[in-house]
Amino acid sequence: MKGVILSGGHGTRLRPLTHTGPKQLIPIANKPVICYAIEDLRDAGITEIGIILGTNMPNKIKEALGDGSEFGVNLTYIMQGEPKGLAHAAKTAKDFVDGDSFVMYLGDNILKSGIEDFVSGFDESDYSSRLLLQEVEDPRQFGVAELNEDGKIINLVEKPEHPKSNLALVGIYLFKNNIFDAIDKIKPSWRNELEITDAIQKLIDEGFNVDSFVVDGWWKDTGKPEDVLDANKLILETIKTDIQGEIEDDVKIKGRVIIGKNTIVKSGSVIKGPAIIGENCEIKGYVGPYTSIGDNTKIIESEIDSSIIIGNSIIRSDKRITESLLGQNSQIISDKKTYPKGRSFVIGENSIIKL
Ligand code: G1P
Repeated sequence: MKGVILSGGHGTRLRPLTHTGPKQLIPIANKPVICYAIEDLRDAGITEIGIILGTNMPNKIKEALGDGSEFGVNLTYIMQGEPKGLAHAAKTAKDFVDGDSFVMYLGDNILKSGIEDFVSGFDESDYSSRLLLQEVEDPRQFGVAELNEDGKIINLVEKPEHPKSNLALVGIYLFKNNIFDAIDKIKPSWRNELEITDAIQKLIDEGFNVDSFVVDGWWKDTGKPEDVLDANKLILETIKTDIQGEIEDDVKIKGRVIIGKNTIVKSGSVIKGPAIIGENCEIKGYVGPYTSIGDNTKIIESEIDSSIIIGNSIIRSDKRITESLLGQNSQIISDKKTYPKGRSFVIGENSIIKL
């Protein structure tokens, strides 16, 4: 069995962060979200992995992941070019898959329980595909599955206005080679994309068996800032304490905290986990639960919680920063000596400032 991770898409809902790199490199607990997909595949015994690249700075993905040896896998990069839908992306992997069965994993999805159980037994089964499902509150933003009384999938619809169930398609799929024939038979959807949901429906229409598997534990599609922050909280819940940096006297550390090399936590600071602080940081103030601070960041006389700072940033704020997502090289500075007492911003498109 092979793995195929989709790593294209424009990431419009994550602008301005995606102006400087693909969404799959946004860090969750200081690790690019796509790394979780690679680790899930590896832990399920899948080491031949194709990464499908889009047009938004694909080289950054290659630079970040290399040949995969760091993860114990072998990565092959495949260019999708212009994104024309998930089924189009899957089709670009046909030569790489080369007749094997494969897991298709959307590179911005993150799953608590891994995929070992999901993958188990698929090769030997007579199923053409197996889908991962999860109950969600608002299924209209996902592909939605309708099951019969025996739990067999009878119908799949992409982003239905009137969903027949609340079972969303998680962005992780198992396929055998006949998915490629199904993809060849579908037409672009209303959003002008070749939908993988439609290709799987085609398999069902042609009488092939499609299995389903409901996710145990949480799942997040990190397409929007609030989902990225939620995923960060969920991953931080699972960390173990590891302190490599320097902790000065009179620092309070509570809960599980990771602090990277060459980071200094200054006297008087309070760090309340679960939280992660990267390398070469300087922290003076309060870092609260569910915070991920990337490398080379300074927190100066400031308080922060429930946030992600991607890295190379400076925070010197007289108000606590909370529920925030800060791109590389961001600065939040309150300078009490500056008059008139205005607020000064340099912000990208889609930025949100809550004062
Ligand atoms: C895609 C799929 C959808 C699935 C979702 C999961 O949606 O088309 O069926 O439920 O991923 O993340 P998209 O991200 O293209 O809106």
